[in-house]
Amino acid sequence: MDMTQTADNSSIILDTSQHHDRILILDFGSQVTQLIARRVRETGVYCEIWPFNQADIDRIKDFQPKGIILSGGPSSVTEENSPRAPEGLFDLGLPLFGICYGQQTMVHQLGGRVETSDHREFGRAYVDIKSRTQITQDIWEEGAHEQVWMSHGDRVTSLPEGFSVIGTSTGAPFAFIADEARQFYAVQFHPEVVHTPHGGQLLKNFTHEVCGCAGDWTMAAFRDEAIEKIRTQVGDGKVICGLSGGVDSSVTAVLLHEAIGDQLTCIYVDTGMMRAGESEQVVELFRNHYNIPLIHEDASDKFLGLLDGVSDPEKKRKIIGATFIDVFDAVSSRIGKVDFLAQGTLYPDVIESVSFTGGPSVTIKSHHNVGGLPERMNLKLVEPLRELFKDEVRDLGRALGMPEDFIRRHPFPGPGLAIRIPGEITEEKLEILRKADTVYLEEIRKAGLYDAIWQAFAVLLPVRTVGVMGDDRTYDYVCALRAVTSTDGMTADYYHFDHEFLGNVSTRIINEVRGINRVVYDITSKPPGTIEWE
Ligand code: XMP
Repeated sequence: MDMTQTADNSSIILDTSQHHDRILILDFGSQVTQLIARRVRETGVYCEIWPFNQADIDRIKDFQPKGIILSGGPSSVTEENSPRAPEGLFDLGLPLFGICYGQQTMVHQLGGRVETSDHREFGRAYVDIKSRTQITQDIWEEGAHEQVWMSHGDRVTSLPEGFSVIGTSTGAPFAFIADEARQFYAVQFHPEVVHTPHGGQLLKNFTHEVCGCAGDWTMAAFRDEAIEKIRTQVGDGKVICGLSGGVDSSVTAVLLHEAIGDQLTCIYVDTGMMRAGESEQVVELFRNHYNIPLIHEDASDKFLGLLDGVSDPEKKRKIIGATFIDVFDAVSSRIGKVDFLAQGTLYPDVIESVSFTGGPSVTIKSHHNVGGLPERMNLKLVEPLRELFKDEVRDLGRALGMPEDFIRRHPFPGPGLAIRIPGEITEEKLEILRKADTVYLEEIRKAGLYDAIWQAFAVLLPVRTVGVMGDDRTYDYVCALRAVTSTDGMTADYYHFDHEFLGNVSTRIINEVRGINRVVYDITSKPPGTIEWE
């Protein structure tokens, strides 16, 4: 498959994987299925995640995987109607690796027994290795006592024909089993999480030694193939790309420019709610350094005018989203005929996750996105990052020679500083916030903490408090500082700065930023908080 036409005929998806060995991961709904994919890709092997109920045997055969991994999941195989691997999976003659629920359904479907146990295991556990196999080679010898991470209530109590025990734990006598003749391996524990220290190597042994994958899926290979594919897809068409200054859109733009040169035009919409120096940096890098045709549209008056007097967070987000589309549309119509819109869509946005509840989820925040654009402008999509995780996008940026500090940038939300000023937005507040944010980030960089933090920023609260500076009474705004660690933005913990650092930042902000006389630090994790304040 080179290109796939979607149902609405508007989007074409690049598939750069066809020259490489592939592993298929069947998802039974585990919270950590994406980690399996990341571990496999770290071994240089391309893989995809498919929901178990969308993987019929013919589709699997077309995909031509060299092996299949069955993920964990929240169900119990002892319940009626719980998920099963597709009919015929065990007769394909392919190596299989079952993890947790994947192990249990493998055992159950092949004639063994799984029972709900009183002896549940959550967290750290130890497996005693009873015999050697191809998949444990060079890591776990017979007699070893190895740390793993468990999360299970059910457990296997009798094995299907052909299987033998590789390892046991206190709570799971069949913690690690194999049928070496058929190359079926299955574990009760989770090799994909970091708390199973040799888990990555175990998965590598599966993909390389058992499945025979070459491990040649590197970012340099990806880059070269993606460039070829983009050329084939775009032909001599014209492409526009919305640049936000973030990593995903920046890497998309540089990759496209490498592929099609000046057939690409980038549009950078300045909403007036960018951080200090942000617009200048984007123009410098893309127009001056890369020589990419770039339209820098200063629409700040329009955005700020429409936001005047608006304080409700959802209203702000909706106004910004709609205005962005209007401005983008107007700018691109000035360019003339355009055929494609390039977007930095990533693999986590593409994976269809297994939903057991089926019901609609609550909207916490209306995310700023440009999803309305392709339909309105009748454009086909170019999405060269659709197969990649965030950290792989950064690697691709490196393979494209992009500056390291650009690649490592913290995420910045589409609505910008608007959602860091609870209440009404004014030019004055934006200016105060920019200054405070600059001081905060400067101190973080100086302390060498920037890369240890997922995201750090200042928030200007719509609250004035009384202070005293010199002999004068002050009555100024409160600034809240936020810094979090996270792997994907879905959950987060606040960053544990030492007090001296925070005290120093507070002093600098109050001394240097007129309009702020008090600084507080936000120690809320996500959940229950969110990363941004609105
Ligand atoms: P929350 O506040 O939902 O943020 O915990 C999670 C991550 O998403 C970013 N964020 C956005 N990114 N458009 C974006 O492109 C948005 O509308 C948006 N809102 C939040 C936020 O900065 C954090 O990294």
